Amino acid sequence: MKFLDTWQQATLAATRALTPTIRLFEFEPSHRVGAWTPGSHIRVRVTVDGRVEVRCYSLIDDGSADARLRIAVKLSENGLGGSRAMWALKAGDVVDISEPDNHFELGLGAPSYTLVAGGVGITPLVSMARALKRGGRPLRFFYAVRSREEAAFADLLQSWLGEDFHLWIENDAGRLDFAKLVEPIDAEGELYFCGPIAMLEAVRKTWEAAGRPMSLLRYESFASSGHYANQAFTAVLPRFGRELQVAAHQTLLSALEEAGIEVLSDCRRGECGLCTVDILSCDAPVDHRDVFLSEAQKAENRKLCACVSRPSGGRIEIDTAYRGPATA
Ligand code: FES
Repeated sequence: MKFLDTWQQATLAATRALTPTIRLFEFEPSHRVGAWTPGSHIRVRVTVDGRVEVRCYSLIDDGSADARLRIAVKLSENGLGGSRAMWALKAGDVVDISEPDNHFELGLGAPSYTLVAGGVGITPLVSMARALKRGGRPLRFFYAVRSREEAAFADLLQSWLGEDFHLWIENDAGRLDFAKLVEPIDAEGELYFCGPIAMLEAVRKTWEAAGRPMSLLRYESFASSGHYANQAFTAVLPRFGRELQVAAHQTLLSALEEAGIEVLSDCRRGECGLCTVDILSCDAPVDHRDVFLSEAQKAENRKLCACVSRPSGGRIEIDTAYRGPATA
């Protein structure tokens, strides 16, 4: 059961390679979409193995350039199939897209901003950097990639931000030292992060250890960046007397929906928490890939965001009836 979606058709006007594995897509919507703010995303309906699925992609622009919607998609050969479906699209193809929505809003009252991107997590931060630069806000930008050739938008950001832009090549320089990065941020300064889950966990731990208020750390992550490779598993639902086989390329949420079992959902990328289900038992480690549950809740293993998280194989018994408070 999906909330808040207004769909319209959009034509793929152009694609362009940004790196060997990241491609820019420019869509022309059939009707002009409403204004959007930095950090916004759209949902795109893609067909994966004959099934219609929904994927979320951050908008690269801040909405001021023209009527086109630009997103960038990293090809994940071992992912759930959404990026492969996107990369198979050709100019002139028509897809369904949603209105822009924003779960990663840029506040404008902070004395300074630190933006940190890991890999393709650069996408929502491009529009934020542009907005902050235009507004003359103090800004430092750190962008970690494995190799220079993976650094989409690096030249653009360098031209906007000059010495405030720091490209970090992990193959040459090792991992970013988050403690050093956080230390000079002033007391009310905000940090915006987008990147893989493991990097997000490191940033969150560093921020917490430095005694910084969590309200000043804003983040988003990839639904696909788990600790384990995707494995098929069995989902057992005692409430319905059902047992579902969830394929490696499928999410638990899509398997439940295909089986006709209603689960609330919205963001479908582990942010809103609407799709949270109770775990009754599980015989394999659970790969929590959301940014909604707290570290303590993930360690307890009593809840799971069905849109992104999954057991690493085996058998999981769940109850879809749980509806906890947003702060749970
Ligand atoms: S639908 Fe938002 S966390 Fe799953």
